[in-house]
Amino acid sequence: MSDLETAKQESRVFSPPAAFVANANISGMDAYNALCAEAEKDYEGFWGRLARENLQWHKPFTKVLDESNAPNYKWFEDGLLNVSYNCLDVHLKNGNADKVALIFESDAGDVSKISYKDLHEKVCKFANGLKSRGIKKGDRVVIYMPMSVEGVVAMQACARIGATHSVVFGGFSAKSLQERIVDVGAVAVITADEQARGGKHLPLKSIVDEALALGDCEKIKDVIIYKRTGGNINFVAGRDLWMHELVAPQSNVCEPEWVSAEHPLFILYTSGSTGKPKGVQHSSGGYLLWSLLTMKWTFDIKPTDVFWCTADIGWVTGHSYITYGPLAAGATEIVFEGIPTYPNAGRFWDMIQKHKATIFYTAPTAIRSLIKAADGDAKIHPKQYDLSSLRLLGSVGEPINPEAWMWYYKHIGGEKCPIADTFWQTETGGHMISPLPGVTPMVPGSCTLPLPGIMTAIVDETGHDLPNGQGGILVVKKPWPSMIRTIWGDNERFKKSYFPDELGGTMYLAGDGAIRNKDTGYFTITGRIDDVLNVSGHRMGTMEIESALVANPLVAEAAVVGKPDDTTGEAICAFVVLKRSRPTGDEAKQIATELRNWVAKEIGPIAKPKEIRFGDNLPKTRSGKIMRRLLRVLAKGEEITQDISTLENPAILEQLKQAQ
Ligand code: PRX
Repeated sequence: MSDLETAKQESRVFSPPAAFVANANISGMDAYNALCAEAEKDYEGFWGRLARENLQWHKPFTKVLDESNAPNYKWFEDGLLNVSYNCLDVHLKNGNADKVALIFESDAGDVSKISYKDLHEKVCKFANGLKSRGIKKGDRVVIYMPMSVEGVVAMQACARIGATHSVVFGGFSAKSLQERIVDVGAVAVITADEQARGGKHLPLKSIVDEALALGDCEKIKDVIIYKRTGGNINFVAGRDLWMHELVAPQSNVCEPEWVSAEHPLFILYTSGSTGKPKGVQHSSGGYLLWSLLTMKWTFDIKPTDVFWCTADIGWVTGHSYITYGPLAAGATEIVFEGIPTYPNAGRFWDMIQKHKATIFYTAPTAIRSLIKAADGDAKIHPKQYDLSSLRLLGSVGEPINPEAWMWYYKHIGGEKCPIADTFWQTETGGHMISPLPGVTPMVPGSCTLPLPGIMTAIVDETGHDLPNGQGGILVVKKPWPSMIRTIWGDNERFKKSYFPDELGGTMYLAGDGAIRNKDTGYFTITGRIDDVLNVSGHRMGTMEIESALVANPLVAEAAVVGKPDDTTGEAICAFVVLKRSRPTGDEAKQIATELRNWVAKEIGPIAKPKEIRFGDNLPKTRSGKIMRRLLRVLAKGEEITQDISTLENPAILEQLKQAQ
């Protein structure tokens, strides 16, 4: 039985512990239902109340939601605020200046603690530094940095001056970086000399140099470098400057730039079903409101918590649950530079013990790989560590299979911590469907119920509601404050991708399939319905990888599909036709390695196919369309039972089945 089948048939139910419920920010199903009813009754009133109560406005908004240009919805538009002010200054004013904001642990294990006051000062000085370079409201700044205090400071400093940041994950290649710099029209790049990961130093600045040398980056005036390792870099006079030198002479007072709630806080690129990544544009007010509220609701954040989200700031999870949500909530949070397996696979458990983390938020892939490691080495099994500080666990980025859920619940949570299996996306800005820890009885593998105010539903291809128990397309029927505003530079693509006419043009199409349990109405995500793969919780477009492969001079044609993988959830499997004859044996292995490295150079190591199979051709219909569903079956190693009568070249299936 597949994991999904197991998840759908899962009947175990785990209720939140009574003591948790008693103290929770949303306590009990009645409280949840009351919030949902409030939203149902007066949608704008509900969001307006929350925005007034939770954010500090420089100038209050007079209108909650503007639908006149739907689906380009606007929230709280005439309200003025500043995101960095809401994340930092408010806590200085509330007597929390000396509270620890960030506990930073380096790859090597060195720990430093930064108070809200220190963080505020760092952000103000860097913001003044950016201003001194002429960077101003509305400019775009690309951030290509390791996990660091400085990374958070860079993002917050942009927010403070109203510059829109676009963070590019440090694992992306020079080419991917350049494409993003060009598409977003950035005026500066903030980077580091190198990053330290797993005991190794990996380059960043030299990749920026390479990216800029690829061309079309004339708008870039400054490359600001955080000195992380002190490794050798090439320093371009007049363009490059050290972060510490820029910051040193700056004042620690920086009046925030008050911006409209609709001002773009950031643009984050993510993969879609076509070749080019999309720049997902988020707002300031609505986005901040939801990252803060979900900290309170999903993560039940309290002043005494030590919150740890293991994501990287290069992904949306790092934006919402490292840089913005926890700081807006005035929490103490852990920022970790390294990887879960260095110096050994007990690193996460060691850090939870050391820092007395109370809330831990990670991805199923990490859990699955740590299960394997713990099974293989008793010394790093979580039972060797004191994890009793934990009170809540979270999961994000991909479906969590019931087996991994149970292990997480038992061995990490000690059967006393609720697990928030949070379903959401880069486009949604924050959690959409998740158990609330003081409310929802949990079923392993199900993300359960939508958060109050989030109007999720399951419909068929024509947009009609489907009854519980019937799988279909996951949609959101009403706009919500933290939703994507547009695709940077391509509003038509935004409308087509997320509000397709087939669904009436008003429903947000998530791109995932889902099913609701007949009795409970709980949602289970059944996977993407488009050509997007989810590898280790990283979103990859199959066409993006195919374009990279066919750009190689050896390759004539390529088709990429996902196949289930025990650790990474899905793995990338590429079927490739070369311009020359089909290689076999050692030669095939060697060319496969070459192509894998090529993809790493074109996109980044995360996009490397796990498996490459060579064929004389690809299975195609008579009209020339590649039959991907057959490739998916082949990739899984299953027998083809589907109808293949429309297939032009059936013999190819046998070849691709064997070609490993
Ligand atoms: O397919 C869903 C899956 O990840 C996709 C979103 O990826 P991304 O934009 O990179 O954001 C990841 C972090 C929020 C979704 O369309 N996904 C995310 N969370 C879950 C999930 N699938 C199942 N269960 C989840 N909890």
